[in-house]
Formats: sequence, C-alpha cells, structure tokens
Amino acid sequence: MFKNVWAQRRRAVEEELRRALDQTPSLNPTLTEAMQYSLLGGGKRLRPILLMAAADAVNGSGEKFLTTAAAIEMIHTYSLIHDDLPAMDDDDYRRGQLTNHKVFGEAIAILAGDALLTLAFEVMLRQKGVASTVILNVVDEMSRAAGMSGMVGGQAIDLQSEGKAIELETLRRMHMGKTGALFRAAIRSGAILAGASDEKLSALTKYAEAFGLAFQITDDILDVTGDEKTLGKPTGSDARNKKSTYVTLTSLDSARSMAERTVEEATEALKNFGAEADFLRDLVRYLLERNK
Ligand code: IPE
Ligand code: IPE
Ligand code: MG
Ligand code: MG
Ligand code: MG
Repeated sequence: MFKNVWAQRRRAVEEELRRALDQTPSLNPTLTEAMQYSLLGGGKRLRPILLMAAADAVNGSGEKFLTTAAAIEMIHTYSLIHDDLPAMDDDDYRRGQLTNHKVFGEAIAILAGDALLTLAFEVMLRQKGVASTVILNVVDEMSRAAGMSGMVGGQAIDLQSEGKAIELETLRRMHMGKTGALFRAAIRSGAILAGASDEKLSALTKYAEAFGLAFQITDDILDVTGDEKTLGKPTGSDARNKKSTYVTLTSLDSARSMAERTVEEATEALKNFGAEADFLRDLVRYLLERNK
C-alpha cells in the first residue's frame, strides 16, 4: 500500500518534471540535455513526495501541489550534480549512471546545476490554486533552506571537516544543513501550501528535522554497508574523502541506534495526527531498512 502510493506519486512527479522542462525555453540544447540527464535519471523523489504527504496530513490536498513538488526536486538534483564534482566529492556514478560532469564535462555540469536551481524558483511561482502570499512564504522557506543557512552552509561544513575529528554537535549541524534543510523545506512547504495551523506546522517541522537527520545517518551507514548497484552511487566515498560521518566519528552500531532513536522522535512528533499521517509514519520507518 505504502510502496504503491510512493510509486504512483513518483511517476506523477517525473511527468511534472518533464513538463516543466519542456515548457521552459532554453538558449542552449547541450545545457538542456545535461539538465534532463540528471533530473530524469532516476532517484527516489523523496522530497517532492514528502511535500505532498505533508499537505495530505493537513487536509488531503497533496495532489494539488505537484508543481512545487517538482521544484524542490530540481533544487535537490542541482545539489547532487555539484556534490559529485571533482572539487567536492569527486564521484563517478549517481542514480545508476555516470555523474553529470563525467558525461558533459565540469563546466556544463556546473551550469546545469545553476540552471536547475534557478528554474526551481521559476517553477515555484507557477503553482496554481493558492494565493500569491502563500507562494511567497514557500519561496522564503526554499531559498533559506537551499542557501548559506541551509544546504550550501552544510556542504561547506562538510568540506571543511574532511580529515578532521569534529565534535558530534558540529556533525549534527552539518547534517541538519546539508541534508536536513531541504527535507524541512519540503515538509514545511507542503504544510504551508495546505494552510496548516501553527500547531500542525510546528509538529510537522519537528517530524521533518528528525526525518532529515535520520536520513543522513542512514546515508552515512549505506556508504559503508551498501551495495553500489542497488544504491546507484559509489560506496566508500566518505572514507576516500576522509569525511566526518556518524559512522567514522562513532561506530556503525551507534550510528544505527542514533538512527533508530531519531526515527522514534519523528514518529512521536506526529502523535496528534490520525490516519492521515500514516504515510509519513511509514516513510520514516522505511529509513531504517532502506538499501538505496
Ligand atoms: C542523496 O539523496 C543525497 C543526500 C542528501 C544524502 P537521496 O538519497 O534522496 O538521492 P536520490 O534523489 O534518491 O538520488
Ligand atoms: C550530500 O551528502 C548532500 C547534498 C547536499 C547533496 P553526501 O555527499 O553524503 O551525498 P551522497 O552520499 O554523495 O549522495
Ligand atoms: Mg558530499
Ligand atoms: Mg557525495
Ligand atoms: Mg553520502
């Protein structure tokens, strides 16, 4: 049931991504091809699915927000293209295919990332069915989450922590930034679009923060224990780059217990929601058993 809803939503997001790209005039076909290559080349589509699931948990309106859901996937895809660049993690595979710079070269990969980030904001403004002040709130969430206070800030901590023994608190801050911020923005944007009350928004925010942290801890675990083919990206990348992760700073076992505790926290945050939040409950549980 849960997996079916996920698969169906994933297909809807992918159609929307294709539509959004097709609707946007481009000055350069190579750039468009590079954007398409990464955007339509697989991926779990978790952030768009969470955005819609949060709106469903508020009032069952998830389907209405496919446009904004596609926009956040563009921001995420840009972050992956840049994360894989030689100057960053220097990885050759992503989503089961060669990384963007391996196919198109570094310069086009950088530009494809830049263009996806800006297209995301163009697309967000195309969201129908809500007042423009609501869209402005969403743009506020997304821009903060993507930038120096969020994802990019976290990526900077990540790069500066290579080869160092950082404090667990710094690691937490890094995870909350590089990965947590976009998950938080996905869920908060879905809730805001659906017109959530302050209480619901704050409960969903707690869920989102725990979700993001648990997600990155399991990403760190999979970098050690995962299967490259299933994951669609290389394992051992963190060790090769001397990254600070929960696994390197503590151990596999304590990373696993940390993930379990964080999943509990996420579930606890939903205690005042009924069956309308079951999808969110199932999704955070799945993190503990995911293999991709
Ligand atoms: C990978 O994210 C990058 C991190 C934030 C750890 P995902 O595991 O969601 O990647 P895709 O979108 O499914 O490829
Ligand atoms: C990066 O974290 C998160 C992003 C902002 C892209 P990782 O570097 O661990 O992501 P993967 O493992 O390459 O997907
Ligand atoms: Mg990285
Ligand atoms: Mg990486
Ligand atoms: Mg990783």
